[in-house]
Amino acid sequence: MSSSKLETDKQAGLLQGKVCVVTGSSSGIGKATASGLAALGATVVLACRDFVRGELARQEIVRESNNQNVSVDLVDLARLNSVRSFADDLRQKFSHLDVLVNNAGIYSSKRVVTADGFDATFEINHLAHFLLTNLLLDLMKASAPSRIVNVSSEAQSRGHINFNDLQGGRKYSGWKSYSQSKLANVLFTYELARRLEGTGVTANCVHPGTVRTNFARSNGGLLGLIVRLFAPLMLSPKQGAKTVIWLASSPEGAHSTGKYFSKQSEIKSSKESYDLEVAKHLWDVSCELTGLGQV
Ligand SMILES: NC(=O)c1ccc[n+]([C@@H]2O[C@H](COP(=O)([O-])OP(=O)(O)OC[C@H]3O[C@@H](n4cnc5c(N)ncnc54)[C@H](OP(=O)(O)O)[C@@H]3O)[C@@H](O)[C@H]2O)c1
Repeated sequence: MSSSKLETDKQAGLLQGKVCVVTGSSSGIGKATASGLAALGATVVLACRDFVRGELARQEIVRESNNQNVSVDLVDLARLNSVRSFADDLRQKFSHLDVLVNNAGIYSSKRVVTADGFDATFEINHLAHFLLTNLLLDLMKASAPSRIVNVSSEAQSRGHINFNDLQGGRKYSGWKSYSQSKLANVLFTYELARRLEGTGVTANCVHPGTVRTNFARSNGGLLGLIVRLFAPLMLSPKQGAKTVIWLASSPEGAHSTGKYFSKQSEIKSSKESYDLEVAKHLWDVSCELTGLGQV
């Protein structure tokens, strides 16, 4: 048997018996991540908002990975009650949770207000994942060693947390709202890792690269046009998912926490992302907005 075949066979069982949840796995980086985790033997829950898109992704992932243990569970990250029901459902179905990938995200050139009354980018990209993670933390601590991977973006480097107008209600810019939300992903990861010290649960975040997905495609804005024009030069979703899968599954990934990665290497994030006061304040505000109380 060749050494590469041996390596593939060894890897195939790496996540056997592990339960992994991936948000936004109906397309793009999330779907490729879910497929990669399924190929490593995991039981994978596709956290999707639309059953048909989720089911189509599930069938493709089962075919690709040759793993039947892939299911769709519905969650609309634009509704915090839906996040709560999803977390309850997950707790009923599984006695352990080994990997949570907070991946779903949007870019919106126009301000969209959700039924909860939040800016959609802020709620979907940050608040909903903040709530979901906190609701699942007990289960993840009981399942330790376990891992949380947050999909951020290099857009974080241009982001600023504007506590005076977090929801863009006074002055909205699609780019500012998106980069703020991606900086929030990094600040959340670092603060979470500090709070999880000694629990055996790790939290890291990722810039996946510039990836050819549905991301920002339907937006009428400049970004939508750029994304459509430069699509052929971008990474494939499989390439974009590589670092996420590596952090979620590899022995090397197990040793790191509170870090930001690109191309399977640690990189520095923006100066603001290391500000402990901003991280603490964002945590407290997020608790208040999600109705979590102090955690
Ligand atoms: N593509 C890039 O170049 C790039 C670069 C840096 C970072 N990222 C980050 O990568 C992550 C994944 O994006 P992608 O590029 O793979 O884009 P994508 O193909 O548009 O995937 C986004 C996923 O999020 C889901 N989603 C959107 N709104 C949701 C909601 N309310 N509730 C539940 N799920 C929802 C989408 O579901 P539907 O199928 O139902 O729409 C889809 O599965 C995002 O966090 C993005 O910020 C992407």
